[in-house]
Amino acid sequence: MGEIVLSDVRKSFGGVSIIQGIDLTIKDGEFVVFVGPSGCGKSTLLRLIAGLEDTTDGIIAIDGRDATRLPPARRGLAMVFQSYALYPHMSVRKNIAFPLRMAGMPAAEQDRKVEAAAKVLNLTPYLDRRPSQLSGGQRQRVAIGRAIVREPSAFLFDEPLSNLDAALRVSMRQEISELHQSLKTTMIYVTHDQVEAMTMADKIVVLNAGRIEQVGSPLELYKTPANLFVAGFIGSPKMNFIEGAEAAKHGAHTLGVRPEHIAIAADGPWKGVVGISEHLGSDTFLKVQVDGMGPLTVRAGGEVELHYGDAVSLAAQPGKLHRFDAAGHTLSA
Ligand SMILES: Nc1ncnc2c1ncn2[C@@H]1O[C@H](COP(=O)(O)OP(=O)(O)OP(=O)(O)O)[C@@H](O)[C@H]1O
Ligand SMILES: [Mg+2]
Repeated sequence: MGEIVLSDVRKSFGGVSIIQGIDLTIKDGEFVVFVGPSGCGKSTLLRLIAGLEDTTDGIIAIDGRDATRLPPARRGLAMVFQSYALYPHMSVRKNIAFPLRMAGMPAAEQDRKVEAAAKVLNLTPYLDRRPSQLSGGQRQRVAIGRAIVREPSAFLFDEPLSNLDAALRVSMRQEISELHQSLKTTMIYVTHDQVEAMTMADKIVVLNAGRIEQVGSPLELYKTPANLFVAGFIGSPKMNFIEGAEAAKHGAHTLGVRPEHIAIAADGPWKGVVGISEHLGSDTFLKVQVDGMGPLTVRAGGEVELHYGDAVSLAAQPGKLHRFDAAGHTLSA
């Protein structure tokens, strides 16, 4: 069990409205990512679900029961934070067992649960170490272990990987995805990193200034963003936005085209000059200054030989243009 339904959930701090009416259904077993820029209300929304903040208005239902006024301990959810807050003087085993010990569980049962969680998280060899003797990734796994042993109906993660270096973030995000595959428990994961959202989520909730901009699968948001905000937030490098005459020609206020949907084509209609290029091996990202349009980011092949100042012609792939009106809403094709 782990269905969470939010109905017109609102939160104000000192009269300032921060969460502005959220309606959202999270299905049992789903991996849902809240993504959005800093300050948009991701953590606040997660804390409302956890019960760590009081809801100003609206209803939070967990597994069909109104949980809006329940204290955190009675919601059956487990939260994992960015700072893992492990007890430095306790072994890994004791850290993971902590919530069970607090609940007065018999020692043998505690041991069994801790060992099962350690196995899932590849922590078995480290059970007798102190947190100071672990790497950052291992410490984060201990924090997750402490959540697992509680057998929550949902896990709530608030930017759990942001203290880790880039390579470790990639491997931990795969571990969390695998954990979700094996536990099949609802997970809500907060991040400002759209790559984490795209790679981990069944369903992404894009938040902006306390409101939902769009909810959908990673590919739905990528292929059919509802507005300029989502179009610019999802996808890396960012979608190019073009205004003026070229957009007007397509009946739009703003035209959007992703770097991967622009081809270098001898007979392409957009003529420009190559500026900086970023060679990643797998891809090359070119900044091309296009006549009458401004700079466009273009994804070219990894081994393309183009240099600063070279003249190129570009063409957008058919059917890959996004059109937006003056208010930033997507216009239908
Ligand atoms: N206890 C509080 N009192 C007053 N304002 C608060 C409180 N907590 C959060 N806020 C405000 O609410 C807004 C949303 O904060 P929140 O922490 O939810 O953002 P976030 O999306 O998690 O951002 P980040 O990506 O930086 O973590 C911010 O403007 C913040 O200043
Ligand atoms: Mg936050």
